[in-house]
Amino acid sequence: MPKFAHLSDEDLRSVISWLRSDDPQLQASEEPTIKPEPSLFTKFLCLVAFKPIPYPKAPIPEPDTTNPVAYGKYLVTGRYDCYACHSADFAKLNMEEPEKSLGYCGGGNTMLTMNANVIYTPNITPDEKTGIGNWTEDDFRKVMHESKNKSGKALRYPMLPYTALTDQEVAAIWQYIRSVPKLCNDVDRQWDKDL
Ligand code: HEC
Repeated sequence: MPKFAHLSDEDLRSVISWLRSDDPQLQASEEPTIKPEPSLFTKFLCLVAFKPIPYPKAPIPEPDTTNPVAYGKYLVTGRYDCYACHSADFAKLNMEEPEKSLGYCGGGNTMLTMNANVIYTPNITPDEKTGIGNWTEDDFRKVMHESKNKSGKALRYPMLPYTALTDQEVAAIWQYIRSVPKLCNDVDRQWDKDL
């Protein structure tokens, strides 16, 4: 479960309002709820790496949507939590100051695909050699809206298609990730393996 430590109060209220609405997606279903049976390792991770975060001490305001870099930062660190997956290690995230996380946006974090195979998150800093420094805004838009990377490959889970992002959100995220410090980290994308 991602942690939304920087989600604005207004966004949080919107989520709650939707959860309380009569949206068809929220109708009761006949499907039985699967009882969670976390492994010992998962329980250990919950105690060590995924500890609860402190409750915010002050209200979290809405981002300035007229400043693309500031808005993009909010989207990457607050609303969509991109940085958590795309930095080096969940255990080394800095929840209070995300940009101080180890390997911020430089990828390498270990995740699991649907088939429980290991996949490493890519480097999304503007480094030309190992990140997305040579990408255009349109290449980036394809990732977000079509779930394809620059070379046309379909991106694998747990990267999800963000089809509902508005053009303004995509442009702001793009502007912001162009502004983060370049990190040279050559992540093995394992395109040759069936993950
Ligand atoms: C749950 C973890 C997770 C989250 C959250 C996530 N990503 Fe990803 N992302 C991945 C993984 C894993 C891949 C690699 C998929 C592959 O190799 O097929 C990826 C791929 C990408 C790529 C393609 C890079 C390349 O070189 O091919 C971009 C760009 C990207 N993500 C940006 C984002 C942005 C922006 C967000 C937030 C809106 C985000 N991601 C949220 C895990 C995540």
